Amino acid sequence: MAAKNKVWSGRIAGEVSPLMERFSRSVESDFLMWREDIAVNRIWAEALAEIGIFSTGELRSVLDGLDKIAAEMAANVFMFEAADEDIHVAIERRLTEICGETGARIHTGRSRNDQVATDARLFLKRRSADWLCEITHLQETLLRMAKAQTRVILPGYTHWQQAQPILLSHYLLAIFWGVDRTIDRLQNYLHQIDLCPLGCGALAGSAFPVDRQRIAQKLGFREASPNSIDATGDRDFCSELLFIIATFFTLLSRVAAEMQIWNTLEFSFIEFSDAFATGSSMMPQKKNPDAMELIRGKSAAAIAAANQLLILQKGLPLTYNRDLQEDKKITFAQLEEVILATAVFREALSGARFNAEQMEKALEPGLLATDLADYLVKKGMPFRKAHEVIGKIVQHSIAEKLELTDFALEQFKKFSDLFTEDVFEILKFSSSIAQRNVPGGTAEKAVREQIVRAEKNLQK
Ligand code: ARG
Repeated sequence: MAAKNKVWSGRIAGEVSPLMERFSRSVESDFLMWREDIAVNRIWAEALAEIGIFSTGELRSVLDGLDKIAAEMAANVFMFEAADEDIHVAIERRLTEICGETGARIHTGRSRNDQVATDARLFLKRRSADWLCEITHLQETLLRMAKAQTRVILPGYTHWQQAQPILLSHYLLAIFWGVDRTIDRLQNYLHQIDLCPLGCGALAGSAFPVDRQRIAQKLGFREASPNSIDATGDRDFCSELLFIIATFFTLLSRVAAEMQIWNTLEFSFIEFSDAFATGSSMMPQKKNPDAMELIRGKSAAAIAAANQLLILQKGLPLTYNRDLQEDKKITFAQLEEVILATAVFREALSGARFNAEQMEKALEPGLLATDLADYLVKKGMPFRKAHEVIGKIVQHSIAEKLELTDFALEQFKKFSDLFTEDVFEILKFSSSIAQRNVPGGTAEKAVREQIVRAEKNLQK
């Protein structure tokens, strides 16, 4: 392909290697922004008309041309050519085919550097807002599930060892608050990204006196970006989003890992619906929790992508460098992936059956050891001493193959005089739960208060 087909053909007369052409094409990933590119072209054309670059008739012809291109794109009949490096070149090329000379004036005072930064921000604004809807939907689902499970008790684990009893709704709300932090981050992100680079040119600002604030406002941005170098070279709006995605994926991945254990025959705390499980090609008995495994698996790429974007930028001078073309491929792909993963996680979890009976069966009396120590503390013993006394009781119970709940009062008394008949009242899982009645604790009352707080959060 000869350089004459290129937007920069005046400068470089020699032919471009087909290899180089293939290598430098980004249209496969940036065509996703065609709607945004059309919108940006439209507003730019109007800005140019305001300063006399286009007459009213010419503006009309450009806008009609852009409508035609949009229709071709929407109908999937737009013909890309080998020389269409990216979506901006493709649309400008087609506009010039349709409008001739007039179309060839659309790039006045503009660079692909401010154009691509504007398109990308618009695209990410739109899809991040879609993701925000998905996440909010997940949050509502988690809250609904938590409300339905305020009576179910299960062992809470630390180090994968039974630690203390918790309510299932308390566990589900733990996911809710992790998701809530993602929502906060995303809302802040949507504020950060809301600046319009258009009119910044290649790096130094447009030499044509376009009204940048008006352009920003027409494109739906909060305002025009304040510095043309920063506006064209900055890609924080990609790395920041990828950080949010990676953090969110990490949360889902942790829950997914736990759900896979819950799903084992040994635990049987949860069973996924057929809609979100798959079988084995070989072993007829298998029903695998693939939705959870894929979420955990895909989180690897999300974490890598956040790293990749930072590595991509770390050695670059502040202005536009072609390296930055790699940003969209990575960021767009992860955003689509996380939108899908959010929906899958929500549907898989809400469609699963929690086995309350099995959770209860799994409760070991050892879960009450802290409550026994707290009991002695309430009778006046210093905690460190109480910890030691109960530690000895636990040792004894293991040696004698007794459960803590099998001890008679006489046996407890051998370890401390402070034990009286009322010890048996605290040796129940339900009373262990009820004891933890601080805000944020697992007591049913505290969890109900937490639910009220969660509801308020959802409304904001
Ligand atoms: N396709 C390019 C990108 O996404 C557009 C900007 C190209 N600018 C340039 N000066 N070559 O980064």
